[in-house]
Amino acid sequence: MTEFSSLPQDQSSEVVVVAHSDPLKGEITVPGAKNSVLKLMAAALLADGVYELSNVPRIDDVDIMSELLTHLGLRIEKRDSLEPELDGQKLRIVNSGNISTVAPFEVVDRIRASVNVVGPLLGRFGEVDIALPGGDDFGGRPIDIHLRGLEAMGATFIFTDEGLIGRTTGLHGADIMLNFPSVGATENLIMAAVCAVGTTRIANAAREPEISDLCLMLRSMGADIQGDGTQQLVIQGVAQSSLQSTTHTVVSDRVQAATYMSAVAMCGGDIHVKGAVSGHMEMLISRFKDMGMKITPTTDGLQVCREGRLSAVDISTLPYPGIATDYKPLLVTMLAVSNGTGVVTENLYPGRFRYIEELRKFGADITIDGHHALVRGVENLIGAVVHAPDIRAGAALVVAGLAASGMTEIRDIHHIDRGYDDLVGRLARLGASISRVH
Ligand code: EPU
Repeated sequence: MTEFSSLPQDQSSEVVVVAHSDPLKGEITVPGAKNSVLKLMAAALLADGVYELSNVPRIDDVDIMSELLTHLGLRIEKRDSLEPELDGQKLRIVNSGNISTVAPFEVVDRIRASVNVVGPLLGRFGEVDIALPGGDDFGGRPIDIHLRGLEAMGATFIFTDEGLIGRTTGLHGADIMLNFPSVGATENLIMAAVCAVGTTRIANAAREPEISDLCLMLRSMGADIQGDGTQQLVIQGVAQSSLQSTTHTVVSDRVQAATYMSAVAMCGGDIHVKGAVSGHMEMLISRFKDMGMKITPTTDGLQVCREGRLSAVDISTLPYPGIATDYKPLLVTMLAVSNGTGVVTENLYPGRFRYIEELRKFGADITIDGHHALVRGVENLIGAVVHAPDIRAGAALVVAGLAASGMTEIRDIHHIDRGYDDLVGRLARLGASISRVH
């Protein structure tokens, strides 16, 4: 059992070493979703009591979020289960009501999801002081949609040298139309609206499965939310005193599932991705099939197989249910060895192409033009020394290394550890030649 009072250890001197790997075989279990659990943890600010989250991924972002919430007054303990690969870990979160509304810069700066404390703190306590959130550098990551929605509910904000100060004498329901279905803004507004006075309607809301997971937990705490999974959310405010703590199992991580699927795409083989939810990945599965993969739903996951060479397709990232921007580095890597040429269009983060330079070191033939990448498939990649620029791109470089001839070394793997629960161990258990080396 660990309590959070200090920074996670810096493991940045470690590298991942990958050799060309034979076709993968066997089964892995997909861990819980990073982009759900971080918001579920923030939701524990809303009501006093003891929470238990299970299927929590063992990733650094959970530790960083734990550190932030500990600063705010929650007590968080993590417990590994007997079979961590199957069950992840459990988090026990104690909210004794003694909460600070000041989120310190040192922690907020390290994780984008820290912005998710704004909704619950304003909704429950009417105040929040927070540095501007950090996270992966994909270019500008504004929070104007969050703030405009909260202002419509009665909050006011001022920017200072230190960050952002939000105040309200009490949030009220409002009709809010998001000008983009932002994941973080939708989550913040839901958490703010849970105990606002009256009804909040959010139009053009994000529909990601992780948002439905948050709504599921909030409902079990006593919130009245309808419409999750659609573009129109309706939240009827309830008295804060009627909310209670709860237990919840984190939804399975569709991006980690996609990573193991893309590993098979790169190396060939036939694996069972246990816990992958096909209904959360329909568009991606359809594109994987267009590229020549065989994907069959099972009772508890997906059987994934690739035999011949992949075929090139064109891909555009879009909000859910479109192809997630988080899948894109994996898809670009697959296109790099496909038969033909594919155009990949990034519609969410214009700056999210920094890993292309790293993929070129493997001999990939990729040209960038604005927010498009033109990927001409080559027969073989060649092992290289590369740097992980962010979480998903780091995983894609690992997957590229599996198919490249010779040896690949991936550096800056602390990015990968922020979002992947034992990527190296899971790939090794599928037969990949991969290890972490100091
Ligand atoms: N945007 C604005 N204003 C806002 C909010 C967003 O202009 O107020 C823009 C962003 O700049 C971006 C787009 O809207 O261009 C999408 O941003 P969104 O708010 O939807 O993303 P997020 O909540 O910041 C989450 C995930 C990301 C994932 C995106 C999109 C978490 C912690 N992060 O970010 O995940 O890429 O949704 O699906 O949930 C990752 O896991 O590696 C990761 C980066």
